[in-house]
Amino acid sequence: MLGNAEQENFAYQRYANPTVSILEAKFRAIEHCSYSLAVNSGMTACLLAFRALLSAGDHVIVPHSVFYEIIEQLNYEVNHRGIELSLIDEYQAAAFERAVQPNTKMIFIEAPTNPAFLDINIPDLVELCNKRGLLLVVDNTFLTPACQKPLCLGAAVTLYSITKHINGHGDVMGGMVSTNKPELFKALKYHRDSAGLIVDPFSAWLTIRGLRTLPLRLKKHTDNAHAVIAMLREEFPKLEWRAVWSTKSAQTNGISPSLHTGLIAIVFPSRETATSFVRHLQLIRIGTTFGNIESLCYHYGSFSREGSTDLEKIGVPDGLVRISVGLEDSDDINADIRRALQLAKQSTTTARG
Ligand SMILES: Cc1ncc(COP(=O)(O)O)c(C=O)c1O
Repeated sequence: MLGNAEQENFAYQRYANPTVSILEAKFRAIEHCSYSLAVNSGMTACLLAFRALLSAGDHVIVPHSVFYEIIEQLNYEVNHRGIELSLIDEYQAAAFERAVQPNTKMIFIEAPTNPAFLDINIPDLVELCNKRGLLLVVDNTFLTPACQKPLCLGAAVTLYSITKHINGHGDVMGGMVSTNKPELFKALKYHRDSAGLIVDPFSAWLTIRGLRTLPLRLKKHTDNAHAVIAMLREEFPKLEWRAVWSTKSAQTNGISPSLHTGLIAIVFPSRETATSFVRHLQLIRIGTTFGNIESLCYHYGSFSREGSTDLEKIGVPDGLVRISVGLEDSDDINADIRRALQLAKQSTTTARG
């Protein structure tokens, strides 16, 4: 039971709530940072960063490969709030530096890129941002703070869709924004509280439940993904695949680079074979999300929206299918993939006559 003194902090739910505060405290502990703010979706976390940290006339540099809805949000900022945007297609610090203008305020990245799994070197960008006085904002949804802690590497802000691995159970929509800088926290908190973008207490409670098993789940995601890759190597040696463990160990704060998040991508030679493979999967369902306890697959070419990012340009071939390897029995996952690969091969061979 809280006394009146403690209750004062929780006077109104749009500003704070005891369960949400516990979730934020847990995040501060995981990220080793000073401030975390829980919000109601990953997209809200992005919106908060743009609204609170950018003003009219500011310039932001973003790789084309970030989640396409983030680019859509930024286009709104450009068209209605006078923000300037440079989208770039090369990921070395030198390419970011070439895009810097006198009014550049922020570099916003996702590292590694999803779903092409290309590395972006955070320490190099931290150096650039320190040199030019820029804010480095990292969407760390893909690797989670268990595998990568961008704030410890010197980034100004991290943000997350906690809808993914952090909660992990597919029953929450939420986001998180973290920083060590009090002035950024103040601006972010003002925008969150004034608009009521805080996550609801029940979703916070479910996420706290999810966090308890994050390391265990990541280990099982990893073991199952390793088993898929071993099977592909053995039985389908010509098939191209990608996985997140190519991320450099320097970025993963000493955590083994082989610890990843169960995300792999199979790159089929054609869109036809990719869609046939997806149709033949039975255990692994189609899902745009990832990091759930259930395995999910996603063929980008089938779902990219008209006018959205050019997939080839961001390293995503038309035949790429992302699989978020879940926590089911590894033999069941492998049997489903094996069967779908065989059927996809047969159906595309038959179709070609
Ligand atoms: C990397 C990344 N950032 C942000 C988001 C947005 O998160 P949410 O769906 O929780 O709004 C997503 C996915 O939807 C994502 O994959």
